[in-house]
Amino acid sequence: MQRILSGIQPTGVPHLGNYLGAVRNWVALQHSHECLFCVVDLHAITADHDRRTLASQTRDLAASYIACGIDPQKQILFHQSAVHAHVRLAWIFNCVARMGWLNRMTQFKDKSGKDRENVSTGLFVYPNLMAADILVYHATRVPVGDDQRQHIELANDIRAKFNHDYETDFFPEIQAMIMGPAARVMSLRDGSKKMSKSDASDQSRINLTDDADTIALKIRRAKTDPEPLPESAEGLENRPEARNLVGIYAALQDIDHAGVLREYGGKGFGTFKEALAALLVEKLSPIAAETRRLLADPGYVDGVLRNGAQRAAALADPIVAEAERLVGFLKV
Ligand code: AMP
Ligand code: TRP
Repeated sequence: MQRILSGIQPTGVPHLGNYLGAVRNWVALQHSHECLFCVVDLHAITADHDRRTLASQTRDLAASYIACGIDPQKQILFHQSAVHAHVRLAWIFNCVARMGWLNRMTQFKDKSGKDRENVSTGLFVYPNLMAADILVYHATRVPVGDDQRQHIELANDIRAKFNHDYETDFFPEIQAMIMGPAARVMSLRDGSKKMSKSDASDQSRINLTDDADTIALKIRRAKTDPEPLPESAEGLENRPEARNLVGIYAALQDIDHAGVLREYGGKGFGTFKEALAALLVEKLSPIAAETRRLLADPGYVDGVLRNGAQRAAALADPIVAEAERLVGFLKV
């Protein structure tokens, strides 16, 4: 059975992009794979963070995973900082990855922007830690949104160089699983920007905790163009906002763009947005309610994470120990 690992940073409330690009696919994959789902809190401190809320955001995100349908009995749900093997392997990978490779990472360029001299060195080596997250379990499948494609390629470059340098085939090849018609959900305010936790405007995203009225208002205000919806999927080209909303609807209904347009092609955005808002409320409200219910008993969620960390460490410890042996460290 293939082993899966994926994760999200606890840097704010999870949004529709996290759900459609990642968690929803995890829920579907957990029946046919052995899975590890991680709250990547080590990654969360690569940029400014609030020490007063990091712990609660970590717990909140774990609760969202469960509320979305992750089964913490069957699969391993844990937070990254609780399993030390990640950092041990990440250090080795810091010494395998090349500056030039990391310099090409578009996410680093986007996140550092004009402030490149001032961002943390952790932000620069962030992809090395991500490679360690996956490879410390010998996971081979990584369900993520489209924005993570380049990081998975880098992880493969790292494992190939490690295997070459240490004359081994220890680390397996990794495959990104980028699934469904909404692998890149765009901002509701600007169809050229991806939906993100860090966007200053809350109107740009649907949070998994938004109530029905907020969802309806955000969709009503979402940017569109003046034309009615096209009759076929080709008609969505060069209409990024229309394409985004149709993609969201398609993903939620488990159909493709063409399927949505068979019903709404030729209709105006007013009608379509009303249907989309109703569908979002139908799918997301139970998740918000379940998250609230779980968080009423923080001890339960913490127990899930504690147990998950133990199970994760049992898998990761022997793998990182073997990597250290291959590198040549003295073992006494
Ligand atoms: P992050 O919020 O950056 O920690 O992302 C966690 C997961 O959600 C990753 O698999 C991302 O690829 C995915 N993701 C984040 N934003 C989006 C988006 N706008 N559309 C689709 N997937 C996304
Ligand atoms: N870099 C990912 C993101 O921001 C989060 C992440 C960290 C991750 N480690 C991972 C995703 C391992 C998949 C596998 O979206």
